Amino acid sequence: MTRDRNSRLLKDLRISVTDRCNFRCTYCMPDDEYVWIARREILSFEEISRLARLFVALGVDKIRLTGGEPLLRRDLDKLIAQLAAIEGLQDLCLTTNGSLLAEKAEALAAAGLKRLNVSLDTLDAEKFARIRQRGDLRAVVDGLLAAKAAGFQRIKLNAVIERGVNEADILPLVEFAREHGFTMRFIEYMDVGNANHWLSEKMVSKREIIETINGRYPLREVGRDQSSAPAVDYEFTDGSGEVGVIASVTEPFCGSCTRGRLTADGKLVTCLFSAYGHDLKALLRSGATDDEISQLIIGVWSRRDDRYSDERLEAMQSPSGYQAKEHRKLEMITLGG
Ligand SMILES: C[S@@+](CC[C@H](N)C(=O)[O-])C[C@H]1O[C@@H](n2cnc3c(N)ncnc32)[C@H](O)[C@@H]1O
Ligand code: SF4
Repeated sequence: MTRDRNSRLLKDLRISVTDRCNFRCTYCMPDDEYVWIARREILSFEEISRLARLFVALGVDKIRLTGGEPLLRRDLDKLIAQLAAIEGLQDLCLTTNGSLLAEKAEALAAAGLKRLNVSLDTLDAEKFARIRQRGDLRAVVDGLLAAKAAGFQRIKLNAVIERGVNEADILPLVEFAREHGFTMRFIEYMDVGNANHWLSEKMVSKREIIETINGRYPLREVGRDQSSAPAVDYEFTDGSGEVGVIASVTEPFCGSCTRGRLTADGKLVTCLFSAYGHDLKALLRSGATDDEISQLIIGVWSRRDDRYSDERLEAMQSPSGYQAKEHRKLEMITLGG
């Protein structure tokens, strides 16, 4: 068992398989061009699988594939099949913008993927175009229906709520999810990366989101799925499913965060708001043994003392406030959201 300085275990690994994306969501990567990771620096499926096996041996039991947009990575189902075969891995999931799901859902399911999170912030086509800047809503909805038909159970829909943009979409999204048997999850707008011009006033809090839903569809709090899960879950008192909220701004959960992140170019990042990662690829490509790579991972994790969201809240509540721009961070597309 690998523990950090605050006794937090290393239990979850988010693997970014690419930093590229076919959308340009205003809250994530609003600019047209970024400095992309060079192709030769991107980990191969074999390199990812080897690292994943080492992480599982160190106590990781859940892996999420993400990005950028993970479905842009060609033959992703082959990587999924390799990861699904790792003994000791309990949970393998994928977070996607859904744009390519209609054509890929069956292959993903056949490869052994069990769970899917699909980002969907609005059901209004015109607003979708404004938030996402590329792609179209119809393809995402078709992708969701294809995933359901391919046998995925408990598909979660992730919506980032930004004040003045899509608060009015909270209830329509809840209704859509209830109608189709999806689980809606709202995410407080966060100051990830450096490009989204985050201001605390743009963030709609968990309390406001829950009040909005509870006013129409009464809720009962269930709590977190596991003690380290980011979302607090609520069930509808009429028995028609659940809704969750990830409140990393107003109710930070750094104290129970067991998530490590592996960037597409093989860096281990210990916090979503980190400014840098620890290079595993150099060792991996220098012919190091499994034991040498594991020792590096253990060393990085045992020095981990990140508690960024706790500190953000403390600053927000202080007289001087919190200035997002003063903190350089890795872009979310690079480190995997
Ligand atoms: C970075 S994306 C990568 C996977 C995929 N492209 C997608 O959109 O689902 C992972 C998750 O991060 C969320 N996200 C991106 N920027 C965010 C922000 N500023 N605040 C909160 N969540 C954000 C997205 O909504 C998505 O659910
Ligand atoms: S949230 Fe996902 S789909 Fe949107 S820009 Fe970021 S990586 Fe791309």
